[in-house]
Amino acid sequence: MDYRFSDHIAGMKPSAIREILKAPADAETISFAAGNPSPESFPVSDLARLSADIFEHHSTLALQYGATDGYPPLRQAVAKWQKERWQIGKTADEGYAFNDTTLIVSGGTQGIELACRTLCNPGEAVICEDPSFIGALNAFRSAGMRTVGVPMNDCGIDVDALEKTILANPDAHLLYVIPTFQNPMGLSWTLEVRRKVYALAKKYGILILEDNPYGETRFAGEELPTLKSMDEDGIVIYCSTFSKVLSAGMRVGFVVAPEQIASKMVIVKQTEDVHTNLFFQMLCHRYVTECDLYAHIDHIKAIYRRKCTLMLDCLARELPDAISYTKPEGGLFIWCTLPDGIDSMEFVRACKAKKLLVVPGATFNCDQDAPSNGFRINFSTPSDEQIVEGCQRLGAVAREFLSK
Ligand SMILES: Cc1ncc(COP(=O)(O)O)c(C=O)c1O
Repeated sequence: MDYRFSDHIAGMKPSAIREILKAPADAETISFAAGNPSPESFPVSDLARLSADIFEHHSTLALQYGATDGYPPLRQAVAKWQKERWQIGKTADEGYAFNDTTLIVSGGTQGIELACRTLCNPGEAVICEDPSFIGALNAFRSAGMRTVGVPMNDCGIDVDALEKTILANPDAHLLYVIPTFQNPMGLSWTLEVRRKVYALAKKYGILILEDNPYGETRFAGEELPTLKSMDEDGIVIYCSTFSKVLSAGMRVGFVVAPEQIASKMVIVKQTEDVHTNLFFQMLCHRYVTECDLYAHIDHIKAIYRRKCTLMLDCLARELPDAISYTKPEGGLFIWCTLPDGIDSMEFVRACKAKKLLVVPGATFNCDQDAPSNGFRINFSTPSDEQIVEGCQRLGAVAREFLSK
């Protein structure tokens, strides 16, 4: 049968990450390619106890259809948590011209996708950091949007380049950014960059889609305000998730956005999945309200601090000076940069031949055909022994590769 596919799927490429992960999973292969939370980070016994209680006492509620905008007690708990923790969520009662609303979504990825389908038309530009989160880029592409990239520097997004990009793309209506522990680079924007980007968005009437899945994972350095906490004009849609603090498999995320936008996102969500898995929403609610979430987050941070420090120490020992790398203060990733002019795809293949998986930077480019001299490595998933051994393999490949 000669199958016919839709135009939008015909233009989409398979994920390079998935292709790399397809490598035969032999016991000797070490993967620095995943983006998963550490398996040590799941609060299994609390979740088992709460799950049993939900099924014993609230099974009908958990097994029935629910509201599209989310399980009301979870919406309230998340709104309270985000307000207290990040000063997120403004209301007309406080004198603002808009009311922020909290929605529960099926992972942060759905929040991103709903925002784009609610606000943008196919063919329009969405402005993103370059490189950026592949899940978001693919969501934009599948909605028919053009992903237009703005380069990064040590302080975050390049603000001058951002202004030029806005001026060159008058159809752009949305700016998608990850200011804290960016994926894939592991970088955080400075306070000055945050303020300038907010001011630019306001000046040019562009909405900001702020993605903050990693904000809670800061294990070093000074905390920085979210763009949403600076939002006095109702121009920021904030997206976050339980994936990195509780469980990625539950697929529970949340959005805080002005009510007028949130109510339209609910209409789109209704046609996608009716509502987010109710049992897991109830489980998140019970965990957030009955367990010590911050004690648990401290436990996660201690794991990532240890693993990241170990990986940075190993990189310092193993990598030639010609390869630079970021030194994250949170999140899950380190970004390595090969000397100018080298395409990291070849380097990644050489690593794979030595049974080490890393992700080529081009995967995360806004322009799918542009090369990259960067590659991403992850410190949360490998064991400590794998980090040490994997960095030795990386160093050996790098020395051989650069000596050619
Ligand atoms: C930058 C970024 N945003 C959003 C997500 C989505 O998280 P989820 O859909 O699991 O909530 C991820 C996950 O890796 C991410 O790295």
